[in-house]
Amino acid sequence: MWTCILMRKAFFNANMHLFPRLAGAPTYSLKSQMQNKISFTKKVQILCSPPQVRGISDFIQDGALPSSGAKSRKSKNSWSFPVLDGTIKMEQMDRTEANLRNSEACIQRYLELLGESHQREERDIIRHTQRHGKLLVRERLRLVLDDDDFFELSPLAGYDLPYGTISNAGCLTGIGKVCGIWCMLIANDATVKGGTMYPITVKKHLRAQAIATMNRLPTVYLVDSGGAFLPLQAEIFPDSCHGGRIFYNIAVMSSMKIPQVAVVCGSCIAGATYIPSIADESIIIDKIGSMFIAGPPLVKAATGENISVEELGGATLHSRISGGIDYVTSTEEEAYERTRHIVMTLKCEEPSKEPVGYDDPLYSPEELKALAPQNYECSLDVKLILSRLIDGSRFQEFKAEYGTTLVTGFAHVKGHLVGLVASNGELSYQASLKGSHFVRLCRHRNVPLLFLLNTVPQTSACTSPAQAEDLGRRCKAQACMMATIACAEVPKITLVIGGNFGNDSYAMCGRSFDPNFLFLWPNARVALVDYRSLTTDFLEGDEHFSMDKSTRKNLGKKLEKESSAFYSSARLWDDGVILPQRSREVIARCLEIIKQKEGQIFSHQQQPILRF
Ligand code: COA
Repeated sequence: MWTCILMRKAFFNANMHLFPRLAGAPTYSLKSQMQNKISFTKKVQILCSPPQVRGISDFIQDGALPSSGAKSRKSKNSWSFPVLDGTIKMEQMDRTEANLRNSEACIQRYLELLGESHQREERDIIRHTQRHGKLLVRERLRLVLDDDDFFELSPLAGYDLPYGTISNAGCLTGIGKVCGIWCMLIANDATVKGGTMYPITVKKHLRAQAIATMNRLPTVYLVDSGGAFLPLQAEIFPDSCHGGRIFYNIAVMSSMKIPQVAVVCGSCIAGATYIPSIADESIIIDKIGSMFIAGPPLVKAATGENISVEELGGATLHSRISGGIDYVTSTEEEAYERTRHIVMTLKCEEPSKEPVGYDDPLYSPEELKALAPQNYECSLDVKLILSRLIDGSRFQEFKAEYGTTLVTGFAHVKGHLVGLVASNGELSYQASLKGSHFVRLCRHRNVPLLFLLNTVPQTSACTSPAQAEDLGRRCKAQACMMATIACAEVPKITLVIGGNFGNDSYAMCGRSFDPNFLFLWPNARVALVDYRSLTTDFLEGDEHFSMDKSTRKNLGKKLEKESSAFYSSARLWDDGVILPQRSREVIARCLEIIKQKEGQIFSHQQQPILRF
């Protein structure tokens, strides 16, 4: 407790001097602070570091396996829970070998795509840095954040879309600490078509805002955008979840007392202008930032008048005349420093730094690559996976003997208590009832839920009245589980470890059930039906589904492509693909972020901050 108070005090003292001094006081050396920040040798960190590929023999020795690398730290939490047996047996070797080969291929592809998504045209970088004298988006983030620890979301968004590959969807989104507070950062990348908003850019903004709202994260927008990407205006402008929703959300979030801060660090054209205009507080960088609905070329075309960017919407106009901006800075560095000053005034509780003791799993998380199922036939008991994710591999299983195709129970992940709901086969009638019961328990106790989703592809149609009765009962129980999850007001994290097929996935808190975070392993498959079923005898003899073999084959190929984890992530159906062996870190990070809102005082929706 005292340690905590002292640490906070030290933090406060260390940060107070960062407010600007009034005229007359010696100027604070921004340069020295900048040097500290820029000296990061490590780039902004994505929680998906390259894997070390190992052979199956590294994972499986005769019979029992390793407690390799499992350090034992003093844990106050999980001593009492029973230990799971996570031993991989010799007879499971065929499956783990197939899984490992598949995982390695998927991971390889994932890393290639990640590399591609970070590439930019040299021409665009030169235009951005030399012609406009601006910093690149990752450099900007580094200046806002306390350190290089940036939990980047959906880095594959925008890959191979029908309208082309839009690197990183034209903007970076992610969570990092600013003055000790977890914040959501949304930053346009103007090296991607002048930062214009594609449909996928809008979607990425909206998802980041949704995460910020669910987790009550102050949100910082670094705006550098040419507005809508005009050729796709019909997919950006008219509908309810198109561009205008970003501005709507800023107002609603502000009214919920989730602070909204914007920095105009480049062009802010057309719709983009409303981001700083609606935000609670806004900063503009002199001679670099500008805001207007229509730029000088449009004015010239409409009126024949020549007008400069500065006259039309520069820092002077917005800070002295329109009042649309609250602070002007003369450099980018100063603007990000000012952003940090604003965050310091938010009175958000800094998350507790009290160290929590926990044990590492008894089995190495590296082995998860061999357990990530290649397909449903390659799925092993999900407890093998759990034993590599949770503290000390200790698990308080709930209803162990009932509805065993779903595993439920309590465990800790890096000291955070979670309720685990893990697929272990078909989501049967009993499994669904058990799932509903357990979710209710967690809801009553306010314990966050972690779903490990590996649902079964639908392979057979109903062929007898007895089967129909069985399916009817199951459907009813699944609906009960869906309703329970939909209304459970506890944080939810979903990790797709294998198949994400059809109906079962709704009951396991798939995307439409609004988890706070949803991640995929690279081997994951996301589709209504498994493409393999189209090439086998599924639907054979179904008179309503008359499709010749070649049409079925083509549909199968289409489904195969559309069900890959990368296809999903490119479209933002998830918050990113993560490496199996990094899952524990990612889950723990999410739980830490979620925890920040515990100390916050909730109030009914009020008026947003308004700029009169
Ligand atoms: N829609 C489609 N493409 C756009 C665009 C828009 N709104 N704005 C810019 N682009 C494209 C440019 O054609 C160029 O494409 P290219 O790389 O294939 O040559 C690329 O984005 C970069 O634009 P460029 O003008 O060369 O870069 P810049 O950094 O000097 O300027 C802007 C960027 C955004 C300030 C400038 O392009 C601009 O003013 N665009 C018009 C913005 C506008 O009127 N928006 C209204 C939307 S409703």
